[in-house]
Amino acid sequence: MTAKVLSLVTAAIVLVPIAGASAATSVTAPKKVTVTMTDAKIHLSLISAPIGSVTFTVTNTGKLSHNFTINSKKTATIAPKKKAVLTVKFTAAKSYTYKSTLPVGKTKGLTGIFKVTKPAVVSTPIGNVTTGKSLFASNGCGGCHTLKSSGATGTVGPNLDNEQPSYTLVIERVTSGKRVMPSYSGSLSKAQIQDLAAYVSTATK
Ligand code: HEC
Repeated sequence: MTAKVLSLVTAAIVLVPIAGASAATSVTAPKKVTVTMTDAKIHLSLISAPIGSVTFTVTNTGKLSHNFTINSKKTATIAPKKKAVLTVKFTAAKSYTYKSTLPVGKTKGLTGIFKVTKPAVVSTPIGNVTTGKSLFASNGCGGCHTLKSSGATGTVGPNLDNEQPSYTLVIERVTSGKRVMPSYSGSLSKAQIQDLAAYVSTATK
């Protein structure tokens, strides 16, 4: 791969979070964690979650009463065979200790670490899908590739409906080519290649 291609690919990766920023902030549906407490152990169905609200549904299957405490929030005392729900808002990416503070003096082992991570970045490909579709038709891609969405039935290269190449792979192949696959870096702009990548990676899904 040439330095030019590398920088193209890197640019795409760096730009993606910006394009996806609004989408990322809307992905904040509260996480649900099922907590099972015995007298010896606390078991969590998930041991980490992204920053945001987490709802812990706590069931006490032990013989003693317990509570579930994390990030200064605490359920009421949960009697054996009872349940409690605790919703906690985490605002920092770090490790939080959870524990039962009951029964007093017997809490050894009834503790653990819940990890809160930075929010997952939703990647939205950059590029105009409609422009990409016409570029696919006008650049002879269909002469070699099958892609149902464009009516292309070429058989020289891989069938794109079957391969479902990722956005990054389309950028890479169209920019630098590979064996029979020609490089388009001389004839198409970076933006046009992004349009093609946006089109191909979404048309095959
Ligand atoms: C002359 C025939 C030909 C043309 C024209 C052509 N390709 Fe290809 N393409 C190939 C071949 C052959 C491969 C397989 C390369 C390899 O891995 O050896 C390929 C690979 C690819 C891949 C990677 C597929 C995978 O899953 O590995 C993508 C994506 C792709 N081409 C997109 C395009 C696009 C978009 C165009 C138009 C801008 C285009 N190709 C034009 C022949 C062609």
